[in-house]
Amino acid sequence: AREATVLGIETSCDETGVGIVRGRTLLANAVASSMDEHAIFGGVVPEVAARAHVDAFVPTLRSALDEARLTLDDIDAIAVTAGPGLAGALMVGVGAAKGLAEATGLPLYGVNHLVGHIAAELLTSGRRPLEAPCIGLLVSGGHTSLILVRDLVDDVSLLGETIDDAAGEAFDKVARLLGLGYPGGPAIDAAAAEGDPGAFRFPRGLSLPKDLAKHRYDFSFSGLKTAVARQVEAFGDAGEALPVADLAASFREAVADVLTRKAIAACVDSDVPRLVLGGGVAANARVRELAEERCAEAGIELRVPPLRLCTDNGAMIAAAGALLVEAGRAPSPRAFGADSTLP
Ligand code: KG4
Ligand code: ZN
Repeated sequence: AREATVLGIETSCDETGVGIVRGRTLLANAVASSMDEHAIFGGVVPEVAARAHVDAFVPTLRSALDEARLTLDDIDAIAVTAGPGLAGALMVGVGAAKGLAEATGLPLYGVNHLVGHIAAELLTSGRRPLEAPCIGLLVSGGHTSLILVRDLVDDVSLLGETIDDAAGEAFDKVARLLGLGYPGGPAIDAAAAEGDPGAFRFPRGLSLPKDLAKHRYDFSFSGLKTAVARQVEAFGDAGEALPVADLAASFREAVADVLTRKAIAACVDSDVPRLVLGGGVAANARVRELAEERCAEAGIELRVPPLRLCTDNGAMIAAAGALLVEAGRAPSPRAFGADSTLP
């Protein structure tokens, strides 16, 4: 069968993404971010993000079509993130996608954002695509989830997720405590490079035996954030300069340790020797390094898509849509809604 050309739309958080794929081939991946508008708030402001999507949608759609040298006539199907994400932000993308589908007569598929993150790996050119089953560790400003994928179309289940802050959110909050910029992840990564990861022993949330019974695959970062805040206060009270590099390195070590430990446990428990990373935090140097080390030790194949496919983008949604088209699935009903808590 001819490979379907699918246009994917992503607006679940602060990135307006429009991507185009043909089967497993990436043709375009245009992304506009409202990150700068959120910087002064130290985190994504939902209303600001939604308004930015309204402004950015058409220009981003045009850049994607230009980049692929296609017109809407060349597209076979449209896919859009239906959830989970910020309700107002999602509604902009779903509304825009419905308008496009109605005007062009193209089939429209609502896609789960987390499935999209894993499907991004299919677009990595130059190597054999990932095989199911696999475990996905999705870590960004909005989510921290461990996912078991037996089949990307039919059998995806959530093993665990954060019970408080997302990992990226923890990076952003701790960066603020340390007087580093937003987004916090890259700032902490840079500061940590000069620091001692063993300088402070910070807690690894939900990793104690008593927690593991119920929360084996869940994460918690609020205690870690509080532990960093206490240190910052203690240095302030003592009138001493903040050892920013050591605090950043020790914090980063705690996050990377618990993320990779639980991801590997999920692989081993499920007898699935393949791990895919996704989300902005997959850019973290220490997370990548520890994942590589521990996967190699455990005989697990590790896949980390290129960063522009790890962070939120439309191409990953198009890739997930292409799988639905290939599987012969019916499009979503025209009345489907945006669902901020889509399971
Ligand atoms: O996937 P993403 O672009 O958007 C969503 O949040 O959905 O992820 C952004 C998050 C931010 O919280 C940012 O601080 C974090 O990813 N991040 C990092 C790094 N680069 C981005 N966290 C840790 N280390 C990094 N190098
Ligand atoms: Zn995401």
